Amino acid sequence: MIKGGVAILDFGSQYTQLIARRIRELGVYCELLPGNCSWPEVERIAPGAIILAGSPYSVYGDNSPMPPEEVFSTSLPVLGICYGMQLIAYHTGGKVEGGHHREYGPALLKTEESHLFKGIESDQQAWMSHGDRVTEVPSGYTVVASTDLLPIAAMENTELRRYGVQFHPEVNHTVFGSDLLEHFLFDIACLKANWDMKYFSAQAKQFIREELGETGKVILGLSGGVDSSVVAALLHSAVPDRFVPIFVDNGLLREGEREEVERTFREHFAMDLITVEGEDRFLSELAGVSDPEKKRKIIGRVFIELFEEAANSIPGVTHLAQGTLYPDVIESVSFKGPSATIKSHHNVGGLPDRMNLSLLEPLRELFKDEVRELGRELGLSNRMVSRHPFPGPGLAVRILGPITREDRDLLQKVDRVFIDYLREENLYDEIWQAFSVLLPIRTVGVMGDERTYDRVVALRAVTSTDGMTADWYRMAPRHMAAVSSRIVNRVNGVSRIVYDISSKPPGTIEWE
Ligand code: XMP
Repeated sequence: MIKGGVAILDFGSQYTQLIARRIRELGVYCELLPGNCSWPEVERIAPGAIILAGSPYSVYGDNSPMPPEEVFSTSLPVLGICYGMQLIAYHTGGKVEGGHHREYGPALLKTEESHLFKGIESDQQAWMSHGDRVTEVPSGYTVVASTDLLPIAAMENTELRRYGVQFHPEVNHTVFGSDLLEHFLFDIACLKANWDMKYFSAQAKQFIREELGETGKVILGLSGGVDSSVVAALLHSAVPDRFVPIFVDNGLLREGEREEVERTFREHFAMDLITVEGEDRFLSELAGVSDPEKKRKIIGRVFIELFEEAANSIPGVTHLAQGTLYPDVIESVSFKGPSATIKSHHNVGGLPDRMNLSLLEPLRELFKDEVRELGRELGLSNRMVSRHPFPGPGLAVRILGPITREDRDLLQKVDRVFIDYLREENLYDEIWQAFSVLLPIRTVGVMGDERTYDRVVALRAVTSTDGMTADWYRMAPRHMAAVSSRIVNRVNGVSRIVYDISSKPPGTIEWE
């Protein structure tokens, strides 16, 4: 959809996504491509520069990912980082060797007067992470940096505009890393910093109109979460008369959630929001079910049935929109193939085929923080775009054991007190996700002179960047004490609070 910018060839390094983040932060569009893609795939995005990224592989290994030959003869500027630098050396007449000791961590980089390090001082810290190294540069190249342990830490061929660095400029520990990338993008590759959410928004709207043509009409399962809310705001802005969001109230939402969604989209944005009353249907189908996977399956099935019913009542629908983000796309285009860890949490999975609709994924180029920024740009409130993630099956996977209305009401109240407290104390934004879990047990307590026999609630708060791994949030004891007594005082039926100190792995974020 977007042309220009930088093509980053991914060879499996843990840092590759970070390169993309840094470049976009500098205002330049970039896309990750599988390192072993074909040259036409690179040309498809019409890049203004190419970055060959790092890799856990050796350039001379049997199964090492290799880029298309054309990257070594293109007239575009090329920057090789770590394995990328070794690829350039290996393929154009230099030498790469293993067997030297691995170098991992900070190193002082001595730079020479050069094109690549113009304006960057020598003797600054750079981050190293490599086993192999370039021991001879190809002809036409000059060595432009070294460290005590590494004679060739960077090389350049200014005529061909081809550069290689053994260290990682994308990592914060390389103190001049952003300066180096900036210099490469703007001075060497002469790219323009035109990537921001205003630009994206204009491009995305045009893309949506083109996809829908003159007569297309699009629907969206709006959950009130960040991604679907931003898709809704974008579609509404692009094709207000040909977009219908559908919100399924499954009765397992947070307290006040439905009202907030309706206020935002129906009143503030004046969208033709359809709310599906699903509470009775979901709760009756879930009655007596304890097994978490069964709960998820039931919720997924009922969701699809109700969503389909609502969608069928709208004439002329051609497209279904979804809030797929770039990290999901990267996971599935990696040269190693779709990752086993990819989540299949999209509740509408399978729907486009079933309903014979085309899929529209207008956020598939964006990282989460860019989605948030786009949301703000499109007029969503800060509160809406900075919300914690919430699972599709909602409170069903936070009420352990069978679900009853009473337990749902109880958990909604507890969660409200917990989240309100975090907001009041300005802790909400420090935490990636926070929620409460209602346990299926009772314990003995005392209140006043009376013995009680009431429920136990677990509080969970985690820090994370993408939900794939997470650590428990180190909540200060005074906050734990305050929120615990607030819950017990305000919510009848709860006498004991515990705090979950499991990380992921081995735990998951949700309890079911
Ligand atoms: P776990 O529990 O797998 O959760 O560590 C990782 C993230 O995914 C959310 N999650 C779900 N989201 N449907 C969803 O839409 C689900 O079935 C589901 N299960 C977990 C969870 O809240 C966390 O953000």
